[in-house]
Amino acid sequence: MTSPIPPSGFASVAQIRKTFLDFFAERGHTVVESSPLVPGNDPTLMFTNSGMVQFKDVFLGTDRRGYVRAASVQACLRAGGKHNDLENVGYTARHHTFFEMLGNWSFGDYFKREALQWAWELLTKVYGLPADRLWATVYIDDDDAYDIWTTTIGLPANRVVRIGDNKGAKYASDNFWMMADTGPCGPCSEIFYDHGPGIPGGPPGSAEQDGDRFIEIWNNVFMQFDMQPDGSLLPLPAPCVDTGMGLERLAAILQQVHSNYEIDLFRTLIDAAQRVTQCPDAHNDSLKVIADHIRAAVFLVKDGVLPGNEGRGYVQRRIIRRAIRHGYKLGCREPFFHRLVADVAALMGDAYPPLSSQVDSITDVLRSEEERFLETLEVGLRILDEALVENDAGSEVIDKDKGKGSDKVNKDGTNTDSTDKVLRGEVAFRLHDTFGFPLDLTADVCRERGWRVDEAGFAVAMDKQKSQARAAGKFRMDKGLDYDGAPNAFVGYERLTTDTTILALYADDAPVDVLEAGVQGAVILAQTPFYGESGGQVGDAGTILGATGAMFDVADTQKLRAEVWVHRGKLAVGTLRVGDAVTAHVDALRRAATERNHSATHLLHKALREVLGVHVQQKGSLVDAQRTRFDFAHHAPVSEDEVREIEARVNADILANTSTSIRMMDLASARQTGAMMLFGEKYGDTVRVLDIGASCELCGGTHVRRTGDIGLCKVVAQSSVASGVRRIEAVTGTNALEHVQQQEDTLHAAAAVLKVPVSGLEERVTTLLDRIKSLDKEISALQGRLQASAAQGLLAQARDVAPGVRLLAVQVHEADAKALRDTARQLAEQLRTGVVVLATVLQNKVQLAACVTPDLLPKVHAGQLVAFLAAQLGGKGGGKPDLAMAGGTDITRIDPALHSAAQWVAQRVG
Ligand code: ALA
Repeated sequence: MTSPIPPSGFASVAQIRKTFLDFFAERGHTVVESSPLVPGNDPTLMFTNSGMVQFKDVFLGTDRRGYVRAASVQACLRAGGKHNDLENVGYTARHHTFFEMLGNWSFGDYFKREALQWAWELLTKVYGLPADRLWATVYIDDDDAYDIWTTTIGLPANRVVRIGDNKGAKYASDNFWMMADTGPCGPCSEIFYDHGPGIPGGPPGSAEQDGDRFIEIWNNVFMQFDMQPDGSLLPLPAPCVDTGMGLERLAAILQQVHSNYEIDLFRTLIDAAQRVTQCPDAHNDSLKVIADHIRAAVFLVKDGVLPGNEGRGYVQRRIIRRAIRHGYKLGCREPFFHRLVADVAALMGDAYPPLSSQVDSITDVLRSEEERFLETLEVGLRILDEALVENDAGSEVIDKDKGKGSDKVNKDGTNTDSTDKVLRGEVAFRLHDTFGFPLDLTADVCRERGWRVDEAGFAVAMDKQKSQARAAGKFRMDKGLDYDGAPNAFVGYERLTTDTTILALYADDAPVDVLEAGVQGAVILAQTPFYGESGGQVGDAGTILGATGAMFDVADTQKLRAEVWVHRGKLAVGTLRVGDAVTAHVDALRRAATERNHSATHLLHKALREVLGVHVQQKGSLVDAQRTRFDFAHHAPVSEDEVREIEARVNADILANTSTSIRMMDLASARQTGAMMLFGEKYGDTVRVLDIGASCELCGGTHVRRTGDIGLCKVVAQSSVASGVRRIEAVTGTNALEHVQQQEDTLHAAAAVLKVPVSGLEERVTTLLDRIKSLDKEISALQGRLQASAAQGLLAQARDVAPGVRLLAVQVHEADAKALRDTARQLAEQLRTGVVVLATVLQNKVQLAACVTPDLLPKVHAGQLVAFLAAQLGGKGGGKPDLAMAGGTDITRIDPALHSAAQWVAQRVG
């Protein structure tokens, strides 16, 4: 007998978050903020996929915090990487890409008993969940957890399920949680809620467990191991607890609904999605996809991930494009997705404060991705449609009912749909390569119709094109050095030279006791004045001198992990041994030049916000001894006047020659000072607040003592890095002097060539340009005359493709785009009723133009025709119905492509 669903009393998402944090704060937990979706300095992980990510080093014992109990509400993304739910969104009631995780942690403090008891107390006493609807699972041989559930807590044994594979693939899936393929992991105990017999699905461990009836709400992981790349498990320094409860799932229970998409937050978002798509049916699954994906897309941009062709950027692109395709399905032909950014900010801005101030820049990024994809979406979908029909004819239909609505989603996210209707891999690849269709988008369309994609065939086609290096979604795993020794002290804020000893040596990344001259290697010191690359500032270079004359040239210094710096370079002379006493010298000139650029970056950041607006958010920076390169959110080029104004402000700060101040404080106090903080940075509990000029920022880098030390600061370049992100580059000190001198040299050289003084350059160049312009005009008049006479000859090659409809599809001699277009237009005029397609080869590429006479227009679309032809030539294009241009790369296929135009046109006019 199940008791009624929870007593009434609607708990909003905001209340649920607060109740959770209050409960654990009362039990001695420090409430920690959500970290960004991009994990700080962790190449093993694509996205923050759970609350524990920001504590990874604490579990491993390589980082320490001022507390041993913590709780948070963490923004998470499970798309790409080890945990991936992208494909399930829109097909189940409980999967998301972006979601919020409520979590509590013990770092070597409490363990299983407290964790499970508190979880039980919070769920049943505070949130008021009926105890008889709750189930628990434990790892197959975890008798402790089993006893705590059955004896201490008193959960009936028939609702405590042992799960786990003890037949070989031991740590493969259930009830053993891993953050990634390597790193902290351990057995876990999951708590399930039974939504009642009205919903299809079975209890955990049963054949029907993947239905929506029994939903896992809270996972309690007993972190005990560090998974090594070879699959072995090393024990963690101390057993820990890591828990995670899906906020949306809990809200569904407390709000007495059976789908996450019906909770308050999603109802509002789905209303908004209905508003922008004008979809009349509030229950359309595409609205759920859009509502889910907009949260992911917004938070990703907020945390610095812009749509791109690889790594994290490609996951972002896949999410956005999948949403756009669902909008298209609902009839949207204009950008709509970006119009939801403000809705997400209104709903979630309170819980994630930086969101509200970034609405404009996030909107811009999404809008331009939408505009870009809408250019190819329609033609791509048509090609896909045609391929599905074409394939259909030749394939045997096994099961008509598969596809949409199929809830065959395995726990690991794969789809067990066994349909035999298979889309050829080359088609999927062509859609990917030419029309920007991510594979999962194509698969999503196929799945709706009961098809699947031949993924192996796609991979083969992709391999063929490897040289284009567009390997989507791949993520490089950097292998660090193997070091588990003591941390080392950094003394480089105070001095540039120190006497110390060698803790570890590496020859080509392998640990050694002795390093010989001539070998590339790495050194770890007990104490180091070398700054390790972080926060955009490059690592220091310099030398490490041994007592017996050994000299190691440090080319770069990197942070291996918290409080371990590694010096990479080459042993130029002598021999070094672990334990040797050495003196470490930082290259002081290089460090000083780097510091000038770093300090100037802070002044620049401040000036950019003052001149362009507070939407300017740092998106990345690189500071070395040559220059500072600063990327920031801004949707337009910075004008010349704005650059001048920014330079004026920065140099005024420099001339004021104020001294730099550094204050150490806890994160909360730092926040109160209004200091700027950066996303993607992992801040500890104690942070360094740097005041320089009018700027106040958190920064671990090294800086000049007084602003005047920077010398002149000059902006030397700006560019666009991605849509909505600008890059500005500046130089300081002697580099600024060199820059000015080089500019002068260039002016003098140009003046000498033109035989005028520098002061007469502008006038001379203007006169020359005018002369070139008039010559150009003459040339194009002459070319026009030549083309007209050539066109007469071409007309003879036109033929009838249907009664009264003429087609001229020919290759012409090398011509530029304008000439090709003009000739196509002229020829079409002379054909009266017909279509002209001209191809030419220019610089080893095919250029196409098509022109359709007005009377054929409703039937024949020039843009579609060139897209059809270009697709055969490894290219793309499109354009207006009457006149369109396209390009391609495969010049060997021009003849067959031109030949195929006849049938294409005939089908449409016949
Ligand atoms: N890290 C655990 C999970 O995400 C709690 O399930």
